[in-house]
Amino acid sequence: GTKPGSHDGSETDRDQQPASLEDCRRCGLWQSATQGVPGAGPRRAPIMMVGEQPGDSEDREGKPFVGPAGRLLDNALHEAGVAREEVFITNAVKHFKWEPRGKRRMHKTPAQREVDACRYWLDRELAEVAPRVLVALGSTALKALLEDTHARLQDYFGKVIEHGGRAVLATWHPSYALRAPDPETRERAYADIVAALARAKKLLR
Ligand code: URA
Repeated sequence: GTKPGSHDGSETDRDQQPASLEDCRRCGLWQSATQGVPGAGPRRAPIMMVGEQPGDSEDREGKPFVGPAGRLLDNALHEAGVAREEVFITNAVKHFKWEPRGKRRMHKTPAQREVDACRYWLDRELAEVAPRVLVALGSTALKALLEDTHARLQDYFGKVIEHGGRAVLATWHPSYALRAPDPETRERAYADIVAALARAKKLLR
């Protein structure tokens, strides 16, 4: 590369400290993604919501939560009375991991080593935004935020825990509220997400 910290080879370099996401070779996911998707929202937003990884729409647009899961999240934020300006939205992993299924690109859950490699970017966002409250959307985000690969969503539901000087709340990933097979489960998951966001807001008072 020509820029400091950049890296041209297709090989990965787990110790690389890239200056920008487009140069990141800390894991191999950049190879099949359109682009890296950084977090979005105001610097110093008091609440940070963390998802898993960009989906198909996010990969194409370069912004987090702009597809179906993002629309659900927008509705949930609105219902919880949380303004978009109060939240920074990001993902545990910044590149879309997928496998071909016919003409579609099917989401694949990131491996722990990919989550670990991407912690570099999450740390930078945490330092820059300095949120007071973190909302983990799903288990990948929870594990990443707590730096505990064994953390299970069900053990953290409805609790506010402290980690690294910040309050952490855990709730479902919005995709679960979209895709759970039965409508009652989807509605309950959506209501849980709204409740978690309302609680996050309350913690700011
Ligand atoms: N799902 C996520 O976890 N993040 C996104 O940005 C979109 C869908």
